[in-house]
Amino acid sequence: MPIILTLETTCDETAAAVIDEKLQILGSSIASQHELHQRFQGVVPEIAARAHLERMLPVIDQSLRGAGISVGQLDAVAVAVTPGLANSLVVGLMAAKTLALTCQIPLIGINHLHAHIYACQIAARRNVYPCVGLIISGGHTHLYDFPNAIEPRLLGGTIDDAAGEAFDKVANMLNLGFPGGPAVAKLAERGYPHRFAFPRSFLHDARLAFSFSGLKTAVRYALGGYGPVDFRTLQIDPQLAADVAASFQEAVAEVLVAKSMQALEQTQRPRLCVGGGVAANRRFRELLMAAADQRGVEVIIAPPELCTDNAVMGGIAFERYHAGRFDPLDLDIVPGLVR
Ligand code: KG4
Ligand code: ZN
Repeated sequence: MPIILTLETTCDETAAAVIDEKLQILGSSIASQHELHQRFQGVVPEIAARAHLERMLPVIDQSLRGAGISVGQLDAVAVAVTPGLANSLVVGLMAAKTLALTCQIPLIGINHLHAHIYACQIAARRNVYPCVGLIISGGHTHLYDFPNAIEPRLLGGTIDDAAGEAFDKVANMLNLGFPGGPAVAKLAERGYPHRFAFPRSFLHDARLAFSFSGLKTAVRYALGGYGPVDFRTLQIDPQLAADVAASFQEAVAEVLVAKSMQALEQTQRPRLCVGGGVAANRRFRELLMAAADQRGVEVIIAPPELCTDNAVMGGIAFERYHAGRFDPLDLDIVPGLVR
């Protein structure tokens, strides 16, 4: 049975997985870098690239050991080549090319966002296509129409911040650490979500676009007023902080759900697949399930371990492997999102 090694280095996770054609995970390893970026409250590209370089080989080794195989038994090597941080992508691609060349096996470049949606297919263990795909992470907030796994049509995305990035920046104002999504969600549990009527950009617009920078600014004013403010020393009333967190989360969740429903309506697809770290948000899930029930559409959300960046979702490479669609050794990275 064919076995593929998949590599992931798009952002701040160094990951490798060994997957067979039945999409069974034979081995998997992830080295997170959160502790390296924490004090900067965001991912520092140069630090990320250097950490990938140190961790790539041990992570590959660990995933092969977990699978109980050697590199000689691999039938192909796949790697995420777009979108992502340029210097981070390069590390994964160089490792993949080296293996492809030395083991004389095919190389397959993966689109990281398409792979996030494929995580739903891997977890559901059945065909989830055609579907609308929503990717909500620290770097991306995009909607796709997927007639199949690998030829999606981009329906729209954020024109400024990503949803996760907005959570992280609000967490920063509240001194909650990085990544801040889970901490904001936890604080929001004690807050009143309708205390602040924060902006919901594009809510009543036919375009499938998102914008979270105005919402972020509104949060800034709600917490710190209109004058100059140093959030590191600002004393914020605990109930105000909780109410802002809850109102912010409500605004993000409402927009994500409304736009997903709009995309389903436009495309007439029967189901929505969701991937990316923000999909872990409980309030978002609640609102999404309620809206989906009302419209009679199916929702599949990748499980938490497959929502955040991982190499297992690189199993999407089998879609190309079976079609014999391989990449040449001069394959390059594409840091920006093209499709
Ligand atoms: O997909 P991911 O692990 O990494 C990439 O950005 O590719 O997503 C991380 C993002 C972070 O911005 C984090 O704050 C957010 O997902 N996040 C959450 C939650 N858990 C993680 N946002 C809101 N609520 C959560 N429970
Ligand atoms: Zn991602």
